[in-house]
This record gives sequence, C-alpha cells and structure tokens, in this order.
Amino acid sequence: MQISVSYLSSYYSNEKTVMMLESTSADYIHVDLMDGGFVDSKNFTIDNVLKLLKNHEKPLDIHLMTFDPLIYINDLAVLKPEYITFHLEATKDIVKTIELIKRNNIKVGISIKPATNILELMPYLALVDLVLLMSVEPGAGGQNFIYHIADKLKDLKKVRTENNLNFKIAMDGGLNEDTIKLVKDLDIAVVGSYICKSNNYEERIKLLKDIH
Ligand code: DX5
Ligand code: ZN
Repeated sequence: MQISVSYLSSYYSNEKTVMMLESTSADYIHVDLMDGGFVDSKNFTIDNVLKLLKNHEKPLDIHLMTFDPLIYINDLAVLKPEYITFHLEATKDIVKTIELIKRNNIKVGISIKPATNILELMPYLALVDLVLLMSVEPGAGGQNFIYHIADKLKDLKKVRTENNLNFKIAMDGGLNEDTIKLVKDLDIAVVGSYICKSNNYEERIKLLKDIH
C-alpha cells in the first residue's frame, strides 16, 4: 500500500509541513484544495498553491474539493502533478473534466463522498486511473473514519475485477494505525492528521506501511 500524506491539518505551517514531508518515505504529497462552495471552507488561491509547491520533489496527488473543477486544471498542470482528482458530485462536465486532465498528461482520479453509491461511478470507471473513496465528509482533517466505507472498498474491488479494469483505489479520511487495518488492500491510503499531528512523521509512515 502506498501512503499519500495530506498536509491540511498539521502543527506547522503548510510550507514547513511540506518541507518536512519531502524527507520522509511518503509516496505522494496529497494536496487538498477547498473552494468554500463544494465544501464550507476555502483554503487556497491558485497563486498560493503554485508558490507553495513549485519546488516539490515528491509526486503530487491533488484532491479538488471544488465546484467547476475544469477551471483549475490548466493552472495546476504547471506543477506537473501525478494525479488530479475531482468529485463526481461537483460537476456535470465529468467527461470533459476527465479529458482535460488527460490532455495535460496527468492521471485522472474521480472521488465520491461517503453517501454516494459506487454505481454512480460505473460510466466513468474505464476512463479514470484512480477512484478516491471518501471515508469522512470532505472539508476538514481530523474527523472520524466512517466504518461502512470499508464495504464500499470491497464492492469496488469486485467491480474492478469483474470488468477487467485497472484503476487504482484510494481512500481519504480518518485513517490511522487502527482504521487502516480494515482497508489493508487499498492501493493508496491518504493520511493527514495521524502523520502531521505527530512529532515523528517518518515513524508513523513506516508504521502504516508495515501493516499487512
Ligand atoms: C478531507 C481531506 C482529507 C483530510 C485527511 O476533506 O480531503 O485529505 O485532510 O485528513 P485526516 O487523515 O486527518 O482525516
Ligand atoms: Zn483529501
């Protein structure tokens, strides 16, 4: 399982947290962008996210919690992220959004909130590289894991196998050394406060990676 670390809730500034994550064994830096519309809080402007991450070395995994994801993609492409993930619930232009991300040579992720049924993803599963299952309501770090999302993972894996598809499956929200044991067969675990609200990032990342 790979670990993608969200710097959203940390004891330190975004700048310092990102810098500290660069020297760990994290596989990705998870970039949570919130627009104050799709979710209540707003935490970025394009200028400040470009400035924060312009010298990044680890691959970026960008999570757009915004309406109109289309309007951000060309600007974010400057950062050469590995993934841009947007929410199924956030736009009617799902295929257009997938195509624009691909045209920028970036892998496409699609995410669903805890209450959205995986069947709604069916028309898009052959077009995306990643499905991000939210295991908390998007909008804030430090929330409790919603246990029944572990069943969604099982169901989505079944759909993937039965249809011979090869998108990766990630989960985001409330993951820690206990809850991660319920979703061991994830491809990518997105983890925020469990790592960034600790005083030893690497120790926590290693601990998560050692769970089999
Ligand atoms: C939630 C964000 C998550 C969050 C994860 O809206 O998308 O990426 O920061 O943080 P934890 O691991 O603290 O739930
Ligand atoms: Zn996220």
